[in-house]
Formats: sequence, structure tokens, C-alpha cells
Amino acid sequence: MTFAATILTLYPEMFPGPLGHSLAGRALREGLWRFEAVQIRDFAADRHRSVDDTPAGGGAGMVMRADVVASALDSVAAAGRPVLAMTPRGAPLTQARVRDLAAGPGAVILCGRFEGIDERLFEARAIEPVSIGDYVLSGGEMAALTLLDACIRLIPGVMGAASSGMDESFETGLLEYPQYTRPVEWEGRTIPEVLRSGDHARIAAWRKQMAETDTRLRRPDLWERHEGARVKPPSGAR
Ligand code: ADE
Repeated sequence: MTFAATILTLYPEMFPGPLGHSLAGRALREGLWRFEAVQIRDFAADRHRSVDDTPAGGGAGMVMRADVVASALDSVAAAGRPVLAMTPRGAPLTQARVRDLAAGPGAVILCGRFEGIDERLFEARAIEPVSIGDYVLSGGEMAALTLLDACIRLIPGVMGAASSGMDESFETGLLEYPQYTRPVEWEGRTIPEVLRSGDHARIAAWRKQMAETDTRLRRPDLWERHEGARVKPPSGAR
């Protein structure tokens, strides 16, 4: 099965962009995933091909018109694929959602520009708003590229048997342990002795310890969730 991405955008030339290179690029050429970029402007009905208008109630910027975006969306055969809209107002993207998407037939991805899309579109169509983080990009395209990159590397056959695995950051609910490679000594710093010991049990224990420490210090939010899931206090405990 090929993972099929349909991207609705005002900038179709931004695709595949970086996804034409490296791992994703090779997978694209091998037919492990494919994409189609749809120009939303082609669905504008007026002489000026306008896709946006000023915000109702006033304010800065422009809002994408629901009617034009809906026409573009309705022209796509979703064929069982979820319809996602990249927006900072969406639910934060997680590795779990990425894994689900990568295991499925693909996605239809709507990229907003300007101050967003007329909210009525989200009421009138089954659309899942997705955010890639708490910061604002100039449009959904870079967010769509990011989401696709995260999915593509998990498509069976894209990454070798190596890694892909369950050690990775977030798959365990923790950050990944730190990595080292040769030279053994660099600028007076050596690779931790345990990693050179050949003792696989000790190495595994050290990595688990490091993953936990780094997560606790760098991502207290993840650590709390991890610990909360591990030690459930008995109900009624004070
Ligand atoms: N469009 C603009 N900012 C975004 C974000 N943080 N995530 C997804 N889409 C966006």
C-alpha cells in the first residue's frame, strides 16, 4: 500500500520541497509514498480568483474563504483518508497520531495562510485541526511538510530494520538517551565507559537511567505524564 498525501495549498510549488531529498526522497522515488498538491486558487469563482477577504468584525490580515476552500476540498477523493488542517489552533501533533497516520492510507492536508480559514468550514466538513507546536508559522505548508516527514519515516520499508524502533524519543514516553560515536576521546572528553564495556545489561540500565534523568530535567511535562501513568495513586488516597 502506498501512503498517499493530497495537499491543498496556495503554494503547491513548496511540495515535495525537502521531502524530495534524503530518506523521504528515496522513498518517494521508490513509490513508498506519493503526493499531489492542489492549488486552492483554481477553485476561486470570481474574475480576480480571490481566495481571501477581510476578517468579519475587523482586525488585521485576511481570512481564507470557506466557499473556495470547500470547493477545493470537495474536488478531492479522500478515499478513506483523514482530512487534516494545519493550524496553530489545532490539537498538538503527537508521535501516537503520527504512527496511526503512517499505518493508514495517507492524508488530505489543508494548509491555511493569512489569519486562518473561515470557521464555518470546520463546522461544515469533517476536518481535524492539527498544530505542530505553540508558535506561529506564516502558513500551514511547513507544518504539513513536518507532519509528512514524521509519517514517511515510519512507512514500512522506508527506514531500514535499524532504529525505527521503540527506543526513540516519545515512543517510550521519554526522551531518547544520549548517543556517542568515535573518536573515543574528543577535546578531552571521553565516551562514557559503560558504552565501551560490551556489557549489554549495564548499557541498557545506563540508557534507561539517562533517558529518565534527561526527561525529568528537560521535559518536566513529559516526565509528569510518564510518572503519572506508572504510579496510579489508589482512589481516595490523600
Ligand atoms: N500554521 C501556522 N502555525 C502553525 C502551527 N504551529 N502548526 C500548524 N499549522 C500552523
